[in-house]
Amino acid sequence: MFILLPMAGRIPQNFIDELLARTDIVDLIDGFVPLKKMGKDFKACCPFHDEKTPSFTVSQNKQFYHCFGCGANGTAISFLMEYSHLEFLEAIEEMANKAGLPIPEEANQPRTDSNLSELYELLEIVVRFYCTQLKEHKQAGRAIEYLKNRGISGEIAKQFELGYAPAGWDNLIEELGKSDAAQKRLSLTGMIIKRDNGGYYDRFRDRIMFPIRDPRGRVIGFGGRVLDDETPKYLNSPETPIYHKGRELYGLYQARRTNKDLQRLYVVEGYMDVIALAQYGITNAVASLGTAATSDHLERLFRAAAQVVFCFDGDNAGRTAAWRALETTLPLIRDGRQAFFMFMPQGEDPDTYVRSNGRESFEDNSQYLALSDYLIAKLKETTDLSTTQGQAKLVDDALPFISLMPQGALRKLLIRDVAKLSDGDEAYIESLLSSQKPVERRTIRSNKPAQKSGNENLVGKIISMLLYQPTLVHTVENQDALKSIPVAGVDFLLELLELIRNNPKISCAGILENWRDTKYEPRLKQIAASNSDMLAVSSRLEEEFLGALTKLQAKKTQQELKQLTNVKRVSNLSAEDKEAIRKLTKISDKK
Ligand code: GTP
Ligand code: MN
Repeated sequence: MFILLPMAGRIPQNFIDELLARTDIVDLIDGFVPLKKMGKDFKACCPFHDEKTPSFTVSQNKQFYHCFGCGANGTAISFLMEYSHLEFLEAIEEMANKAGLPIPEEANQPRTDSNLSELYELLEIVVRFYCTQLKEHKQAGRAIEYLKNRGISGEIAKQFELGYAPAGWDNLIEELGKSDAAQKRLSLTGMIIKRDNGGYYDRFRDRIMFPIRDPRGRVIGFGGRVLDDETPKYLNSPETPIYHKGRELYGLYQARRTNKDLQRLYVVEGYMDVIALAQYGITNAVASLGTAATSDHLERLFRAAAQVVFCFDGDNAGRTAAWRALETTLPLIRDGRQAFFMFMPQGEDPDTYVRSNGRESFEDNSQYLALSDYLIAKLKETTDLSTTQGQAKLVDDALPFISLMPQGALRKLLIRDVAKLSDGDEAYIESLLSSQKPVERRTIRSNKPAQKSGNENLVGKIISMLLYQPTLVHTVENQDALKSIPVAGVDFLLELLELIRNNPKISCAGILENWRDTKYEPRLKQIAASNSDMLAVSSRLEEEFLGALTKLQAKKTQQELKQLTNVKRVSNLSAEDKEAIRKLTKISDKK
């Protein structure tokens, strides 16, 4: 599973369609979690959270699973990613193996993708070069001395492939950049930098080098630390075609390789923290590389382990960062996932802490603060609960945070806690929550859909029916008539109709995969999860579908009518205008 795959870059969408067409989600999931047929769907106790009665539902028609308890849902690919803790490409690979479909050869991929695999290969050589320099360069003594002083063992240095970029402007160029083409490639990886007056120079000079690998083991970039008090203390690879800040987690590859069954991941700030912890036997720490943990990071973390422990410095900067992490985590904290916070004593980081206190102390759960306790503690800090005003304020302050959370046991617990503290009752808080407009907080990407107007709901309903039964597309006679209807979501609807027309056999899952990792994905999944009830009884689906489309078209007519009457209100209407209005009124009355 952890071999380096020769394949690189994007998988063609039509291969994903083919793969989904050849895989039955019911068979696939049944292989991991025995399913029982109930009505038209299949059910089981949810593998993603603890439950006694089954709320995990698999729809064969939609090729989609959904748990009504914890909200986990998705396609066969999503299931493999979640259940087997795989990255997208690994899940594709496993499904392709099962289905006996060869993954398209690199030759079939666009030119840029084979360029990418060249970059990975090149960086692999760079890793070896820096490792060799650490052993052999005449100046390497200083680097080794530095690592020794920081208490890093030879064994752990080897495991994390630590290296040394020697002092000087062109060590790497001399070694790997002999031709113009070679220099160009090196500069694409960010390892060398173009001079204004021509030529290149090495980015990393006289630094300890930390290779960064993606979860599949490919080197995507480096961090480099100075040996003294020079600045910048750390230098990281710049954005390149293969290195994207804000997505990668240092140490995740090593953590997954060392631990077959990851239960918990520690999120720390620095390279040195990850390495020191590993040396003390805590092989499940990752670093977000100098940036605050993003939603992308968190999705990846929770996919790899159910429990995430954030470690922050105890100073003000650490506390601010922790609060940000809490806001980013709330929307993702469904049942079965847990987040904890751990604050280092003043002046310490995980590196120094584990060296002076040892592994057991670091892993001692009793010093972790559960996410909900942390949230409550913070809310209480600014509130005087001995007054009724204070109690009301607590509820007020808590609402925006609770509303970020998906439905589930944890949300209920939090509501209960807030109710207790404010001497109120849970039903009242629930009622406030349901009337609360979701707030977009500064640092938060809310997963909740914005409030929809009636018109958008109409589009939503049409999309919902199409997800349930994509073949409805064949009943749409005049697709062009939908163009330029002034209602939000119509552009998306047109794209959806086009996709289905071009892939007549596409399932709901295929549609979802088409929009994976786009802004539309959360809303589409939500629709897919909720459209069964609405449509299960509808033997008149086609009729309803066409009815909704007609209504939507009428919006355009109404709009045109409004414009016409607005413009002409003061002047006299011509005979043609009157005729036009009569026609338009007739059509919109019909619906
Ligand atoms: P040590 O001094 O080696 O123990 O470093 P640290 O890991 O304790 O460093 P610190 O807490 O200062 O920083 C945490 C992380 O932030 C580092 O691992 C880097 O990823 C990043 N970082 C720190 N300093 C810099 C810098 O000067 N530039 C950049 N780009 N990143 C930095
Ligand atoms: Mn440190």
